[in-house]
Amino acid sequence: MFGGRLASEHFDGKESTMIVLQNVRKSFGDLEVLKDISITIQDHEIYGIIGQSGAGKSTLLRCINGLEDYQSGKIEINGTIVDQKNKQQLRLIQKNMGMIFQNFNLLSRLDVYDNVALPMKFWGIKTKTPEAEKKIHDLIELVGLEDKIHANPRELSGGQKQRVAIARALVLDPEILLCDEATSALDPGITKEILSLLQKINKEKGITIIVVTHQMEVVKQICEKVAFIKGGSVLAEGKPEELFVRPTKDIKVFLQEESGLLPDKGVNIQLFFTDKSSDPVITMMARELNIDFSICWGKLEDFRSNVFGSLVINVKEEDKEAVTKYLDHQSVTWEVLNA
Ligand SMILES: Nc1ncnc2c1ncn2[C@@H]1O[C@H](COP(=O)(O)OP(=O)(O)OP(=O)(O)O)[C@@H](O)[C@H]1O
Ligand SMILES: [Mg+2]
Repeated sequence: MFGGRLASEHFDGKESTMIVLQNVRKSFGDLEVLKDISITIQDHEIYGIIGQSGAGKSTLLRCINGLEDYQSGKIEINGTIVDQKNKQQLRLIQKNMGMIFQNFNLLSRLDVYDNVALPMKFWGIKTKTPEAEKKIHDLIELVGLEDKIHANPRELSGGQKQRVAIARALVLDPEILLCDEATSALDPGITKEILSLLQKINKEKGITIIVVTHQMEVVKQICEKVAFIKGGSVLAEGKPEELFVRPTKDIKVFLQEESGLLPDKGVNIQLFFTDKSSDPVITMMARELNIDFSICWGKLEDFRSNVFGSLVINVKEEDKEAVTKYLDHQSVTWEVLNA
């Protein structure tokens, strides 16, 4: 039999937490690359790890799949500790994790079909059985490359190559898919298509996906949760809409975003809208309180098809109390910027 799933073999239905990192530290010589990382990734989640070049993202991923050792702390996959000393267990853990990369890593002498079949061969699984052939065909169909099944990687576009890599990463029925900058070499349109494919795989197969990226767009489009890492530490973790609509200073620097120059007279108030706050709060407020205000800055952003936004308004000092009282009773959150 091929495609044995670690979870169904050992942990069937036991828990919904799939990957736990606790106080993980990792150094290369004197250079500490991961500093006390603790994150939890739920079963079936699409989890993003975002940060600048050199932040430690790839190293973190390589520790999760046991390609790199870590010095202290604990990494657990479905209750099994990732431990490089336990080679047999590590192999099972690695079999349960597919991985895709920025540069696709396809074998150029093999066609699409044989590239997808490769992990089976590596694991000594027969590829000529009807069962195996169906699996390979189904995966090539899933990624939309039926018409390229015997093409050579040289004849494929970047997006198509990544589709082959995705099919290959799924051929052993992993529960987890690790993506290291999987869309960084692709243009924005193709990136969207690949991300939609990952979303489809997550939904249809229930696969937990970890997405390492330096692109905010990737996180916004598909991640349910994200950890922002800098210098080997997790600076913030949460829903992307929480982190990016209401960013901390570090995240603002990462996004290279400023709310611009704000007036130094009056009171600047930043409002945060979610998809649930659909009332035209600002114009209603102006009418009800009979006040004037100026709009200083605003943005709307799309997170997994939900729109979130924020707006900075400037009101007169004497209106501040009435305005904040009014906003307290509305479905928006707000804060005074220049209190
Ligand atoms: N095998 C290694 N030996 C020594 N230092 C390493 C090794 N691999 C990574 N590093 C160092 O660890 C730090 C983190 O590297 P890592 O590749 O994890 O960053 P990253 O966030 O993935 O960056 P990028 O976005 O550029 O891919 C860097 O300072 C890097 O130079
Ligand atoms: Mg990297």
